Amino acid sequence: MEQFPLLLPFDRTLHTLDLSAFTEPRRTVCVDLGCGKGRFLLNHAARHPDEFLIGADRLIHRLAKIDAKARKMGIQNVRLVHADAGLLVGCLLPDRSVDVFFVFFPDPWPKRRHHKRRLFSPPMLDAFHRTLKPCGTIHIATDHADYHKVILTLFSADRRFAPAPPCEPPDEEKTDFELIFLAKGKRIYRCSFASLAEPASGNESRPATANPVSMA
Ligand SMILES: C[S@@+](CC[C@H](N)C(=O)[O-])C[C@H]1O[C@@H](n2cnc3c(N)ncnc32)[C@H](O)[C@@H]1O
Repeated sequence: MEQFPLLLPFDRTLHTLDLSAFTEPRRTVCVDLGCGKGRFLLNHAARHPDEFLIGADRLIHRLAKIDAKARKMGIQNVRLVHADAGLLVGCLLPDRSVDVFFVFFPDPWPKRRHHKRRLFSPPMLDAFHRTLKPCGTIHIATDHADYHKVILTLFSADRRFAPAPPCEPPDEEKTDFELIFLAKGKRIYRCSFASLAEPASGNESRPATANPVSMA
């Protein structure tokens, strides 16, 4: 563990993570799900030392590189979790512990037979709602128009969430995938949702409020 000190250990019996050492009551807690090579995670953390950020990915070699880079940059407010996003949000994060989830360029799994592997699903929305503080937010970006529509439909059918203003990171914090897509002239779709303390009233589902932001 000496070479990998930022990795938060958890035992496989699945107790929730103890974040108390990092999160005073008023500190903003952010989770970057599928943090990849960590460009957003590290630059956002460096620019917001008052926030506490967890970067999660299932690829350990990516986390190892982020770990080394964070320590080289002197970043104190980042910790890493090597786990599937479903496991992290479904089991490992405590109830009402997160202010902001960032889900930037989740794998779109375009083939129909692979759709079940997509991150966003009704059980995942249960997990987001359990772990978000009231009024906590999920910011999502994707280059995949169909997946974007699916995400909008899922959230708009769920009265525990309301559309929120989309988040466009400044250039210094854009993720590696966003830079690749921008260089290819691809359109980026963004949407954000706030978790409501009380579900919205009414019987009909809300209209899907698309927030596509064309970066082309
Ligand atoms: C398309 S990349 C995007 C990376 C980064 N967010 C970016 O925008 O540059 C998706 C990342 O999510 C990770 N990932 C995919 N599915 C995951 C899951 N279920 N749990 C945790 N990480 C996942 C992959 O290993 C990869 O690093």
